[in-house]
Amino acid sequence: MFELASITRAAPQIILRDVVKSYGVARVIDHLDLSIAQGQKVALIGPSGSGKSTVLRLIKGLETYQHGSIEVDGAPVPARHSGWHWPGAKKMPVIHRVGMVFQQFNLFPHLTVQENITEAPFRVLQLSREEAQERAYEYLSLVGLGHKANAYPSQLSGGQQQRVAIARALAMRPKVMLFDEVTSALDPELVGEVLAVIRTIAHEQHMTMLLVTHEMKFAQDIADRVLFMEAGKIVADGSPRQILIDPDNERTRRFLNRVEQR
Ligand SMILES: Nc1ncnc2c1ncn2[C@@H]1O[C@H](COP(=O)(O)OP(=O)(O)OP(=O)(O)O)[C@@H](O)[C@H]1O
Ligand SMILES: [Mg+2]
Repeated sequence: MFELASITRAAPQIILRDVVKSYGVARVIDHLDLSIAQGQKVALIGPSGSGKSTVLRLIKGLETYQHGSIEVDGAPVPARHSGWHWPGAKKMPVIHRVGMVFQQFNLFPHLTVQENITEAPFRVLQLSREEAQERAYEYLSLVGLGHKANAYPSQLSGGQQQRVAIARALAMRPKVMLFDEVTSALDPELVGEVLAVIRTIAHEQHMTMLLVTHEMKFAQDIADRVLFMEAGKIVADGSPRQILIDPDNERTRRFLNRVEQR
C-alpha cells in the first residue's frame, strides 16, 4: 500500500512530448519535451519571446498545438478542442484542474472580492453557496485578506488584487498552479507581499507549481528545479544551484547577467 502511494507520488503530473506550436510559419514551441513530478516547484526563466507563457497556456489547454502530446494529471490535453467542452472528457476537464494566475489580475470589477472567489466553485464545481463562501474565506485568510471579503477590486491595491486572484485560483483546489510573471505589473513596494503568499503556498501546499518569474532570488528560494528556455526549447534544466548560481551554460550565464543589471 505504501509502495503504491510512493509510486503514485513519483509519477509525472505534467508531461509534454515532442510538442510543436506555431503561429503561421513562426514556430514558437520547438519539439519540447518536459516532465514535471507531482508536488514539484519549478521556475521557468528565459528571455522575452522564448515561449514561457505559451508553455503555461498549453498546459492549461488554452492553446492549440500542431504536433506531439500533452498530459496533465493523467488526462490528455487535446491539441484541438472547442472552448470548454472537450469531447469524451469524463473527469473534470484539465482546464479546471489547473489554476493559473496572470500578470494582469483579471478580477471581475463588478463583483466583490468574495463573489470573485465563489463564482467558479459555485458554477463549475457546483458547491452550495455556503460551501463556496466558506471556501472563499479559507483562501482569503490564507492570502491575508479575510477582512476584505466585501470590498470591490477597485478598492484594493495591486498587490491585494493579485492576492485575491491567487485565492480565486486556489479555491478551485487545482492539482497544478501556474504563475505567469505575477509580480511584473506591480509597483516595486507591492512585490514582496505577493511573493510571500506564493512562498507560503509553495511550502505548505502539496500541489505542483510552475512559475515564470524574473525574480531570481525568489526562484532560488522556492524552486526545486529551474528550466531555462530559449527560442521555444528548454536549453538548461537543473537545480537552482546548477542553473542560477553556477550555470555551465553560456547562454544562461549571459541571460542572468542581463537580468541582474536591470
Ligand atoms: N497570438 C499570437 N500570435 C502570434 N504570435 C504570438 C502570439 N502569442 C505569442 N506569439 C509569439 O510567440 C512567441 C512566444 O511568446 P510567449 O508569450 O510565450 O513568450 P514569453 O517567453 O512568455 O515572453 P515574455 O517574457 O515577453 O512574456 C513570441 O515570439 C510571440 O511573439
Ligand atoms: Mg510571457
